[in-house]
Amino acid sequence: MWPYPKIVAHRGGGTLAPENTIAGLRAGLAYGFRAVEFDVMLSQDGIGMVIHDPEFGRTVTGHGAVPHTLARDLAVMDAGRWYGAPFKGERVPYYTQFIDYCQAQGIWMNVEIKPADGFEAATGAWVARVTRDAYAAEIAAGDPAAIPLLSSFSFEALAAARDAAPDVPRGYLLDRIPADWEAQARQLGAVAIHTNHKHLTPTLAAAIKAAGYGLFCYTVNDPARAREILLWGVDGFCTDRIDLIGPAFT
Ligand code: G3P
Ligand code: MG
Repeated sequence: MWPYPKIVAHRGGGTLAPENTIAGLRAGLAYGFRAVEFDVMLSQDGIGMVIHDPEFGRTVTGHGAVPHTLARDLAVMDAGRWYGAPFKGERVPYYTQFIDYCQAQGIWMNVEIKPADGFEAATGAWVARVTRDAYAAEIAAGDPAAIPLLSSFSFEALAAARDAAPDVPRGYLLDRIPADWEAQARQLGAVAIHTNHKHLTPTLAAAIKAAGYGLFCYTVNDPARAREILLWGVDGFCTDRIDLIGPAFT
């Protein structure tokens, strides 16, 4: 149900480096992580970039928005200065740069499809196609642990991903798990439910596991809470505190 690593570094290197940057991946590696979650959004010209917010202002300076900016202009923006002077000059990565780095270092990827409003289907389809092409050998070999897991809060994005590249597995991200979660997950052909640990209950966790789905939580930063949800049957979670919760955490 969950052939993937149990502990996953959130947004690259959690809070130990600027989120969604290559420096984040490097920080994760430094703490022994070989599993990462990050966010992918389409540029104006339809290219996947690793960034969380559609609007500029938090991790990149200036005014504007990712879906209205060309990839080549996003790719030269500073995504590290906000975090601290040593990271000045970190760029907004292309998704393909993240793939290359993760393949070279043997890092498993949970790719969150993060569409800007109105670009749900386009983003889902693009991420799924690019991932399928980059992992064609692993998909052909049928080793699930070697294949990335796509996830999204957007049903539409995941449906488009399913249609574009059905062989790339999908996890359905839900902040609060609705009553009809199973019907939705079945429609998407999802292999896992990803949910906010704050709203999870032992009863819901048991129901999801009993239905045969993987169960993944975000974003767990307290070791005691992590132990508690693992006892409920949670298969894995992402964390910002890669310094407190290591890859071998039990
Ligand atoms: O994929 C889990 C988690 O990353 C979802 O929330 O806002 O951190 O992308 P966010
Ligand atoms: Mg995310």
